[in-house]
Amino acid sequence: MKKKEIFLASFLLAILALLSAYFSYLTNTHTKKELNKMNEKTTFSVIENTPLFKKEYGKQYEQIVLREESHFLAEVNRFLDLNYEPEEINQIYAFLRRANIEKLLDSEKRNVKEYYSISNFDVDKIHRYEEYQRTHNCNLKEAVLKVNIGLDHDFYTQIEEIENKSDFTVLVNKYHSLGEYEPTDLKPLSYDAKYQLREQARNAFEELVSAAKLENVSIRPYSAYRSYEYQTSLYDKYVARDGKDVADTYSARPGHSEHQTGLAVDVWSEGFHEITKTDAKWLEENSYKYGFIVRYTKENKNITGYIEEPWHLRYLGRDIALDVYEKKIAYDEYYDLYLK
Ligand code: DAL
Ligand code: ZN
Repeated sequence: MKKKEIFLASFLLAILALLSAYFSYLTNTHTKKELNKMNEKTTFSVIENTPLFKKEYGKQYEQIVLREESHFLAEVNRFLDLNYEPEEINQIYAFLRRANIEKLLDSEKRNVKEYYSISNFDVDKIHRYEEYQRTHNCNLKEAVLKVNIGLDHDFYTQIEEIENKSDFTVLVNKYHSLGEYEPTDLKPLSYDAKYQLREQARNAFEELVSAAKLENVSIRPYSAYRSYEYQTSLYDKYVARDGKDVADTYSARPGHSEHQTGLAVDVWSEGFHEITKTDAKWLEENSYKYGFIVRYTKENKNITGYIEEPWHLRYLGRDIALDVYEKKIAYDEYYDLYLK
């Protein structure tokens, strides 16, 4: 009886061992099959015959998809030295931007799994994302976007000088300064030569005004290009009148106004010293067709730091204006998500 039990137990153990070996074989071949199916070579097949081959990583190399990046093999070794798992390495190359990969290679191991689907994240800002998420109780995607814009710092406290000042897509806000930049292709508007915009924006604006007229919407410019000096005098005047805190809600500080790019224009309804509700609605729904967006809306005032300005049009060109219009997001957000 006892012998029989021992025999039975050993038999069961043997079966279990066989089954587990079989399953492990299955999963292993499964991974390899998956790689083959995707027509992807493993790193092993190439590194094997190079001086970079490290015997202790033999098994890992087999699970890492070979990539075309130059120095890939050396980078794989570096990631393995840093204790990244093969699957993490595959994901890093599949999802992260080059700049982030380089930053990871340059630091101790970081857990970036939760960032794979957030394409605009920046390895250098991870601590700021975490802090923002903790203090604002929002999801990681939102934290990344807000921190990238700069919103974890007060307006005008962390200012970067803009590099692409003359691009039509230039982002000007309370975190990005134009310095004393002056555009070189300003042209007068037909309504009154004292108003100027950069040529392409001027032509687009004239088109917008004509199209609006055909739909019984009569608008006219009342402020277009403004130099650094002029913005200084305006801002100082508003500060003297309303105080800095209030002035900052409706006027840009010198160097921070879109008007200085020659791509922004404020409009009034003909016969009024404001934009009427009807005309504002027309602008909101139609400006993108001519390459403009209504830059400061009530929905985006926490991002821009300005009150709603239904009269302020910003030229971006038709493709981007349409895209921003359809996505219904602030240009600051759009810039971070799609243009940076
Ligand atoms: N009023 C806008 C924000 C400017 O001063 O540029
Ligand atoms: Zn304006």
